[in-house]
Amino acid sequence: MKLIAPSILSADFTKLADEIRSVEAAGADWIHVDVMDGHFVPNITMGPLIVKAVRQVTALPIDVHLMIENPECYIKNFVEAGASLISVHVEACLHLSRTIRLVKETGLQAGAVLNPSTPVDQLQWVLDDVDFVLIMSVNPGFEGQSFIPKTVEKIRNMRQMIDAMKLTTLIEVDGGINDSTISEVAGAGADVFVAGSAIFGSRDYGRTIQRLRKSIHDTELK
Ligand code: DX5
Ligand code: ZN
Repeated sequence: MKLIAPSILSADFTKLADEIRSVEAAGADWIHVDVMDGHFVPNITMGPLIVKAVRQVTALPIDVHLMIENPECYIKNFVEAGASLISVHVEACLHLSRTIRLVKETGLQAGAVLNPSTPVDQLQWVLDDVDFVLIMSVNPGFEGQSFIPKTVEKIRNMRQMIDAMKLTTLIEVDGGINDSTISEVAGAGADVFVAGSAIFGSRDYGRTIQRLRKSIHDTELK
């Protein structure tokens, strides 16, 4: 199962409802929401209020990527707002296992996120508790950045670790995913592909998503 998750960070916020309906109609699998607090990352974006609004316009799973300090303090707010999946950064959690459990106890799917410089072994002792891992392929904070090529090897290592432990944990990749990078990422073993500028910056969301899916599919056939 390979999934495409458009990041609304690149959407036109003057018509957010239309944008979400358009990507849903275009075949998106999840809606990715980038939450930034101006501390963990040098940018401030959106919070539970936006998640609540998104929940009202789509039935798709809402994938909340928390790029904030002390994420454990805000899990409840995002659950109540209608999130379906919540991921927290390893680098922001002193007690990662506890925070993951906090998300799981609400019945939502929990993910752990790794910055580009954070090694995959950081997840060894929580891997069987998470539903997915999110590997950042850019330094978090902004849309439209260039994919960091070293990430491909990291995804491969993560895939090996998951397979060796006989887990079904999904690998999500976020940052700089587009027509030129998606094949390599898919080939390395990713399952969920976040794309912001590649989708919302294109003229025809449907065609773009189709093209991205085709690249994934073609890579699988190789
Ligand atoms: C970066 C965010 C990403 C970003 C992706 O901090 O987590 O989700 O919006 O945007 P693109 O696809 O343009 O790199
Ligand atoms: Zn993200």
